[in-house]
Amino acid sequence: MEEGIVRVSDVTYRYPKGEEPALRGVNLEVKRGEVLAIMGPTGAGKTTLVSLFNGLIPHYFEGRVTGEVLVSDLSTSRHRIQDLVEHVGLVLQDPETQIFGITVLEDTAFGPSNLGYPREQILNLVREALAAVRLSGYEERLTANLSGGEKQRLAIAGVLAMQPEILVLDEPTSELDPLGRAEVFEAVSALRAERQATVILVEHETEDVLRLADKVAVIAKGEIVWYGAPRDLFRDVLRTRDLSIRPPEVAELGLKLCERGLLPTDEIPLTLEEAEAVIREMLGGKKLEAQAQTLSSPGTVERTTIIETIDLTHVYPGGIQAVSGVNLKIRKGEFIALVGQNGAGKTTLVKHFNGLLTPTSGAVMVNGVDTRELGIGELAKQVGYVFQNPDHQIFSTTVEEEIRYGLKNLGLSEDEQEMRIREALSLVGLEDKRGRHPFTLSKGERQKVAVASILAIAPPVIIIDEPTTGLDWTGTTRMLELISDLFRTNGSNSP
Ligand SMILES: Nc1ncnc2c1ncn2[C@@H]1O[C@H](COP(=O)(O)OP(=O)(O)OP(=O)(O)O)[C@@H](O)[C@H]1O
Ligand SMILES: [Mg+2]
Repeated sequence: MEEGIVRVSDVTYRYPKGEEPALRGVNLEVKRGEVLAIMGPTGAGKTTLVSLFNGLIPHYFEGRVTGEVLVSDLSTSRHRIQDLVEHVGLVLQDPETQIFGITVLEDTAFGPSNLGYPREQILNLVREALAAVRLSGYEERLTANLSGGEKQRLAIAGVLAMQPEILVLDEPTSELDPLGRAEVFEAVSALRAERQATVILVEHETEDVLRLADKVAVIAKGEIVWYGAPRDLFRDVLRTRDLSIRPPEVAELGLKLCERGLLPTDEIPLTLEEAEAVIREMLGGKKLEAQAQTLSSPGTVERTTIIETIDLTHVYPGGIQAVSGVNLKIRKGEFIALVGQNGAGKTTLVKHFNGLLTPTSGAVMVNGVDTRELGIGELAKQVGYVFQNPDHQIFSTTVEEEIRYGLKNLGLSEDEQEMRIREALSLVGLEDKRGRHPFTLSKGERQKVAVASILAIAPPVIIIDEPTTGLDWTGTTRMLELISDLFRTNGSNSP
């Protein structure tokens, strides 16, 4: 039998500053042309594992690796990163750490230029790569001004342009809208079909894993705890949940039917088509009469307006109009979801609520006062903002200090600070990471630190920009519960 193109043998690894190993005794083999999904909860070691494949570990992160990683027969600890990039393209979880160019064109050309290709060929590769991620026409745009989702697609294009035989994607679509996700995954499928590329994908979305992956490896606390075909895992709904992975929705439905004795467990459907077949069979051709239902609407209560935008328009330097003529009223106790495609202006809009941006024209009123008349400090008490990218918000050297910072600014007593820090840490489940440097945490853990530091302040309005980016399923469920609890107890607003 052919040997795997990626072979991990008995690998144990500890970060230089890590208290315990981030990976323990990992064995894994990926065959040429295979798509492997890596799943598992926040902090499990997914990013650490994929960082071994292109030599980031141990060449960049250092620390001690035991065991061996072979990629295209090259040992990743003995070969330099520069020699590995031709074989392995790694798209990092955080696109910003991977964007170097000033313009989109420059950035995408960076990799192939370093490989010394002729100019014509570089331009062709760039054109194809940008088309694959729906960024054609963006060539001259400044990378610094792209939205989170656009940056994510650009990072993928940069790697595609080098045409590596192994493509490693660490949560490549966590900041993308559904259209963007579908397009990235189409590009991945095409790459595999046309070039037999091998793809390793860290991904939380069960449905996408089911559609794309041949194999799935689940990691927990640095160990591989499940390996096999995705169907075999997801059909076992209880085991899937145990591993902190969200089972496919139709499988949940199937499990309910099993529990009522209506379906044998080995017939639990995993896709909509399979569910349809099961249901048809159960109905045995019976026709169901649809019943129209009138929903009575609950009586509406007038509530005080907390935030109001009046004809709000924002034009960024360079002329891009990100928000135009928005009129919006947010009332006390409302829970508001802002939805829109990447680049639609969601972040631009909410940054006006706490004074991070000021209107080009129009106005934003918080509790009836124009934000231009309130200082940032005053606004911070009223409106807490959790950034889309936690690293834009975190600047202290320990998790504890990060949360304390805002509390000190409020002038709270030591005791009160301590109480709130403890409460916030327990709300997000980070009690044991209190003394850690935020940048030694996984991305999902950093996201939790960012949320905790705002929760501790308990402002009347909380804005959370894509709160679940980079969180696993348990994390997402907990975060959403947390937000809605908070909203019930405090009457906070959360767009
Ligand atoms: N630079 C670092 N120094 C020390 N410890 C680290 C460092 N980076 C990560 N860790 C720790 O290693 C463990 C695994 O982290 P890793 O980033 O691989 O998790 P992950 O599964 O990718 O999580 P996420 O889903 O949040 O991205 C965590 O306990 C984390 O706190
Ligand atoms: Mg990660």
